Amino acid sequence: MRDRVWKGLLVEQVSPTPGERILDVGCGTGTLTLMLHRACPECDLLGFDADANVLAIARAKAAAANARVEFWQGRADDPTNVPMLRSGSFDKIVSSLLFHHLSTEQKRRAFSHCLRLLRPGGELHVADWGRPANALLRLPFYLIQVLDGFPNTTDNVRGLLPELMRDAGFCHVAETRRVATALGSLSFYRGVK
Ligand SMILES: C[S@@+](CC[C@H](N)C(=O)[O-])C[C@H]1O[C@@H](n2cnc3c(N)ncnc32)[C@H](O)[C@@H]1O
Repeated sequence: MRDRVWKGLLVEQVSPTPGERILDVGCGTGTLTLMLHRACPECDLLGFDADANVLAIARAKAAAANARVEFWQGRADDPTNVPMLRSGSFDKIVSSLLFHHLSTEQKRRAFSHCLRLLRPGGELHVADWGRPANALLRLPFYLIQVLDGFPNTTDNVRGLLPELMRDAGFCHVAETRRVATALGSLSFYRGVK
């Protein structure tokens, strides 16, 4: 399945509703953030990422689309320097293809910060590489592991992200969907504060 297609499925899962404040963690060039904005222009959308270069592209895309979306620089595992990211101030947090870049300890810290940033009852929606549905989908994922590093990607391929979400304090954690792509098996997860 192609990037735009599975990101569309993730937008459906997030189901943005007018008035909601939604954060895209590790937003990259803002493709998903802008898809969420298009799905619900009455939402308050904010993206953040560690990389200033991708954020410049995200801001240019938002300006070209005349979209009122803010992008900030910060680290998912320590976002305390971003003033916009106040505890309990988000209804929903979404993240795609970020967590396999983080070490286990960074994943734990990032999930804890997501929990802190959500209001009670707020939802976290994650799409990232997961446990492959079959051996055929395991093989291409070795390429991702060579590119992005074996230590950070091993939690993903072992299907450990839900456990790390629960450890951080999320409840009703579930794998909601598996998507086969040319590079491996993506899993969607959902958790509630
Ligand atoms: C594969 S890209 C995914 C971008 C976007 N979410 C998407 O799905 O198209 C991973 C992104 O995570 C960002 N990233 C990596 N480590 C990060 C961290 N510790 N905190 C915030 N962003 C991080 C990278 O800068 C990059 O933009």
